[in-house]
Amino acid sequence: MRLGTCYYPEHWPESMWANDARTMTKLGITQVRIGEFSWSRIEPSRNEFQWEWLDKAIETLSNHNLKIIMCTPTATPPKWLIDEIPEILALNEDNQTRNFGSRRHYCFSSKNYRKESRRITNILLNRYGKNPNIISWQTDNEYGCHNTVVSFSPMAEKAFQNWLQLKYVNIENLNKSWGNVFWSQEYNTFEQILLPNNTVTEANPAHSLDFRRFSSDQVISFNNEQVNIIRAHSDALITHNCMGHFTSFDHYLLGESLDIMTWDSYPLGFLDQGWSTEKEKLQWMRSGHPDFAAFHHDLYRNCSKGRWGVMEQQPGAVNWAPNNAAPENGMVKLWTLEAAAHGAEYCSYFRWRQVPFGQEQNHAGLFDSRNEISQGALEVAEVSSILSKLKSLETFSNEVALMFDYPAKWMLDIQPQGKEWNYEKLCFEFYTTLRRLGLSIDIISSDHDISKYKLVVAPSLPVIPKNLLQSAKISNTKLLFGPRSGSKTSEYQIPPKYPFNRDFKFIKSESLRDGASLKINMNDKIYYSKNWRDIIECKGINKIEFSDGHPAYIHNNDYGYIATWPTYELLKDLLINLTEKIGIKTTCLDENIRMRHTKDLTFAFNYGDEILDISKMAPESKFIYGGSKIDPYGVSIWKTQKNK
Ligand code: GAL
Repeated sequence: MRLGTCYYPEHWPESMWANDARTMTKLGITQVRIGEFSWSRIEPSRNEFQWEWLDKAIETLSNHNLKIIMCTPTATPPKWLIDEIPEILALNEDNQTRNFGSRRHYCFSSKNYRKESRRITNILLNRYGKNPNIISWQTDNEYGCHNTVVSFSPMAEKAFQNWLQLKYVNIENLNKSWGNVFWSQEYNTFEQILLPNNTVTEANPAHSLDFRRFSSDQVISFNNEQVNIIRAHSDALITHNCMGHFTSFDHYLLGESLDIMTWDSYPLGFLDQGWSTEKEKLQWMRSGHPDFAAFHHDLYRNCSKGRWGVMEQQPGAVNWAPNNAAPENGMVKLWTLEAAAHGAEYCSYFRWRQVPFGQEQNHAGLFDSRNEISQGALEVAEVSSILSKLKSLETFSNEVALMFDYPAKWMLDIQPQGKEWNYEKLCFEFYTTLRRLGLSIDIISSDHDISKYKLVVAPSLPVIPKNLLQSAKISNTKLLFGPRSGSKTSEYQIPPKYPFNRDFKFIKSESLRDGASLKINMNDKIYYSKNWRDIIECKGINKIEFSDGHPAYIHNNDYGYIATWPTYELLKDLLINLTEKIGIKTTCLDENIRMRHTKDLTFAFNYGDEILDISKMAPESKFIYGGSKIDPYGVSIWKTQKNK
């Protein structure tokens, strides 16, 4: 795994560049990302280009053997362009313009912006496409950041109508599919269809779902336009940097056109900003949730045929969460090694130096704004020497996969049917439980090939793909579904019949407020469930019941169905029983410890503040780094003993 940093030569006097480059190489950094917000410096007014500074920056970095990841600058169209074509700006849900003055101020449906995006991409590629020092191109920057996937502009409306016409061909099909007879919503033409905002009450869920699908497709097609231009001029790898906890477009589809997927890992910011409990936020405020980074590593690894990396790694405190703690000593090293253990090709720190001006002046860099070295940078130097000792980081073929599906998330967001329902949180809790059993997981889409897995867990999958149950039977893969699975058609309707065994009958479901837990008895032990239950009937199939006699978990030879949102204890014990039956080895881990297996190595990570004894997990092991007592915020790495 190579190390890198995000650098902004345009923020610093040229006299500093050579020294910066020299210091980067001293820390073990070999790649530098530049240019993603530099449009106003490249083209200060239409067709007037300033290349000298960028040529010089590339030359200086290259002279120090640093390879370059160059970005298209389309996340920040300059003021002269907005003044010339104001319709580039997106409109928010209240139909107000999202003005110039920060970033990502564009609407994906603006044809004129598409033209400008292709123009500037072509110009950059004509100049640098064959530059041997540029080894990779990043398209734009973090599509969708600051809630920018959707726009309610007139162009978005027109593009949506065209998208609907292509999908449904005639208006009768659309009326039928959306169920527009309900509340007299029938349309006579596609031109009558507005965007689903500012309606008196909830818009038709099928309308909202198609708008989310359309908005996601707009991101993919915007990206594809840049990708096609880059490919025509350059053999360098193409990437885009995605975000954490972000689901507004389908990342599996984005990944299809990229050579390598990357993402931006800010474990502390996301913990503080997210839906973790107050207790968890305090417990891990300086280390991040032990599964946050891992979840996204496992997700993005499968988006681009296994090639992935971290484009921005938090090196100190960020500026954008409600509270911004600094990482505990050791965490920058730990996060980097966790990425390596999950098979990353690349880990790059955002940013090289804290900038003393602008919106992000309170965001840490590897150096502070006075150019003093930070703890994060010291750990980069250390981790680079550890990495040089880890010869093989080839990923392991995992036995267990978790299905995470973007359209499922959109559907369940549109009609959550209960304020505690949160698809991403449910998936994350399933993932945590699997990881606390010492398992290494792949995260896959609902149409991914499942034949190589022994167990595939779908925490909730409203639309079950047609052949899924059949493929699982053929490959002898056990499927485990969570609540609400099979409850919708892709048109957002209730299916006439569930896709499961014909003895499976769905009766009704209910959402439960926090605290209203239900009792479940399993092997003479009492467990609880929370927030959701499906009431089902099922004859002749093994089951575990709620205290009122309704099935809480049913399973046959091919699949299992959990009819509720399980607590950690319930899910853990269910999974232990299930994995034992199908021959998957598990190890119960402390809440602060996580493990990850590569082909030859096992990594253990301590996200807590106590020394922990891991000798049971690594008996007589040959440690390459660390040992059987793992330090607070420490890492141990050992050679995996092969089964005899
Ligand atoms: C990312 C973004 C960077 C920077 C960083 C701050 O989301 O790509 O440009 O803003 O966050 O943490």
